[in-house]
Amino acid sequence: MKSLVRVALLVTAAATWGTSAHAANVDCLGCHAGGPAAKGAPVVDPLRLAGSAHAGLGCLECHPQAAANPHPRPLPPVACQSCHDRQGSALALSVHGLRRPEAPDGVNRAAAGCTDCHGTHGVRSTEAIQSGPGRTEVAAFCARCHERVAAVYRESVHGKAVASGIEDAPTCTNCHGEHVVAATSEPGSKVAARNIPRTCAACHDQEKVASRLGLPVRRLATYLDSYHGVVNQHGEAAVANCASCHGVHDIRPAADPQSSIHPDNLGRTCGTCHPGAQRGLAGARIHVEADPKSSLGMYVVRVFYTGLIGVLMVGFVAYMGIELYGTWRRRKP
Ligand code: HEC
Ligand code: HEC
Ligand code: HEC
Ligand code: HEC
Ligand code: HEC
Ligand code: HEC
Ligand code: HEC
Ligand code: HEC
Ligand code: HEC
Repeated sequence: MKSLVRVALLVTAAATWGTSAHAANVDCLGCHAGGPAAKGAPVVDPLRLAGSAHAGLGCLECHPQAAANPHPRPLPPVACQSCHDRQGSALALSVHGLRRPEAPDGVNRAAAGCTDCHGTHGVRSTEAIQSGPGRTEVAAFCARCHERVAAVYRESVHGKAVASGIEDAPTCTNCHGEHVVAATSEPGSKVAARNIPRTCAACHDQEKVASRLGLPVRRLATYLDSYHGVVNQHGEAAVANCASCHGVHDIRPAADPQSSIHPDNLGRTCGTCHPGAQRGLAGARIHVEADPKSSLGMYVVRVFYTGLIGVLMVGFVAYMGIELYGTWRRRKP
């Protein structure tokens, strides 16, 4: 009896949500709402679909091959990309979608397809995900397969900030992209050594974000001015980028004793690449602004070199001019 009431409720709910789709939906739900006609048909909750981003779609729009009654079984998988072409093409080129030549049909089954991240009948809209603490959902998508990384991330300054509703803080996709997630070894990846500084700087060189949360600014500019920064931008992966000093998924503020940049831990952090130099380096300042207030020495050197380079450039151009003029004079008959 209870189940009959439930079926009646579900069928009415289905009938009220879409009109064109409604007739076919009711047909399907005759078997798929768990009623007596079910005969082993899997139960579908139409309310879930009605509360999703696809509230307006009828069953047949995603399961077109089910039009015949009885429908063929098994049915082919739903082709999300037939309506979402842009996301489908992006995913196909990502680490999650790349075809595997060694697999018999080329499909990479271990990696993520649309429904692994978005689910099936409960697909949520971007608006629903982005608003408020719902943003932790993105890390939860990824955690289904990357739990080890997600567990570390949740304890980091970024993970805690997202969980507490700070919208400026990064979830997995801010650093890796959504459908375009690339292998870390890809030179084009957002987290390749050369690109990390800009990925972090999308937030850490933003005056607005920094002042809202009281964070220090100009992290990218000061890094690019440093020895590490200059060499990094020449494509040398062995020097320190933001993540070498701050960590990757376990980033913490300097005041946290577990942070890689806590004064007590700096010797070890720098020591991984500068063995034996712990003492001297640990005292070194990193994000140094070349201005007369915070670093007079660096400022003087900067001004001196800028002047010197200017004079050298002018001299060089003049020299070239004289040379060319001489050549031209000598060639003249
Ligand atoms: C006469 C009852 C009946 C009707 C009507 C019906 N189905 Fe089914 N459906 C079944 C049964 C039984 C199964 C389970 C088959 C199995 O497990 O082998 C099933 C399985 C499915 C599956 C699971 C995929 C698969 O290959 O097993 C989907 C998707 C599906 N039906 C969609 C629909 C849609 C959409 C409609 C409406 C257009 C619909 N069905 C109408 C009985 C029905
Ligand atoms: C937005 C597209 C979409 C719509 C609309 C949709 N489905 Fe599905 N359905 C899916 C996906 C995706 C799956 C997972 C299997 C797959 O990938 O083919 C699925 C699976 C199913 C299954 C197998 C059991 C399960 O839950 O995994 C049944 C039965 C089913 N759908 C019936 C229905 C019925 C009945 C409706 C209409 C009330 C409907 N579907 C509407 C996308 C959709
Ligand atoms: C690795 C996980 C993952 C996979 C696989 C994935 N998505 Fe997404 N998708 C996301 C995330 C995360 C978002 C953004 C959610 C947010 O923050 O608003 C998103 C957003 C979307 C959006 C909203 C518009 C946009 O582009 O931002 C659509 C539509 C979408 N995905 C469709 C698909 C389709 C279709 C597939 C399969 C071809 C797919 N997704 C595969 C994670 C994934
Ligand atoms: C029959 C066409 C169709 C199919 C098939 C389809 N969708 Fe959609 N999808 C839509 C429409 C229409 C919307 C709502 C309009 C919009 O926001 O783009 C939508 C919205 C979405 C959104 C939210 C977009 C946003 O900006 O908030 C996501 C995510 C999404 N679909 C993922 C999927 C996934 C995953 C599948 C496969 C399981 C799928 N879609 C299958 C038509 C479809
Ligand atoms: C603040 C930026 C940032 C955030 C947030 C972030 N990552 Fe990463 N992730 C990176 C960087 C940088 C690397 C590259 C490390 C390297 O080169 O070895 C990386 C590497 C990875 C790797 C490959 C290496 C490994 O440790 O397995 C995976 C998988 C990964 N991230 C998944 C995730 C997931 C899942 C989340 C969310 C729970 C996430 N990331 C959040 C920056 C981030
Ligand atoms: C269904 C499981 C699954 C889901 C969900 C998933 N991934 Fe993955 N991911 C994989 C697999 C498997 C690989 C390895 C692919 C390969 O190399 O064949 C991978 C690879 C990666 C890599 C590259 C790792 C490296 O060492 O280069 C990153 C980064 C990554 N995933 C991030 C994410 C993010 C971010 C999300 C959520 C938006 C996510 N993944 C969701 C299964 C998944
Ligand atoms: C989407 C924006 C965003 C990205 C991308 C991002 N961060 Fe952050 N980061 C934040 C926000 C917001 C906070 C402050 C969180 C809080 O105070 O609760 C923060 C905090 C920090 C802190 C601690 C600062 C403090 O004083 O508390 C460090 C260190 C840090 N991030 C380094 C990095 C590094 C390194 C990367 C790149 C691998 C990175 N961040 C990528 C937004 C971002
Ligand atoms: C060579 C190591 C190193 C590199 C590379 C580096 N940092 Fe730092 N970073 C530090 C140290 C040490 C501190 C703490 C002392 C200070 O502010 O100089 C710090 C401080 C910070 C802070 C403030 C943390 C707090 O708790 O106050 C943020 C945010 C930050 N860095 C982001 C970045 C970003 C973004 C990059 C890349 C563009 C980067 N860092 C590159 C070592 C480094
Ligand atoms: C990922 C490895 C890595 C990390 C971590 C690292 N460095 Fe470096 N650093 C390098 C490399 C490689 C060079 C260039 C080779 C050299 O001269 O030793 C360099 C060069 C330098 C230089 C200029 C050249 C010199 O030898 O005087 C200074 C100063 C420096 N690092 C300080 C630091 C400090 C301080 C830390 C910790 C906060 C740190 N580094 C962390 C890799 C790293």
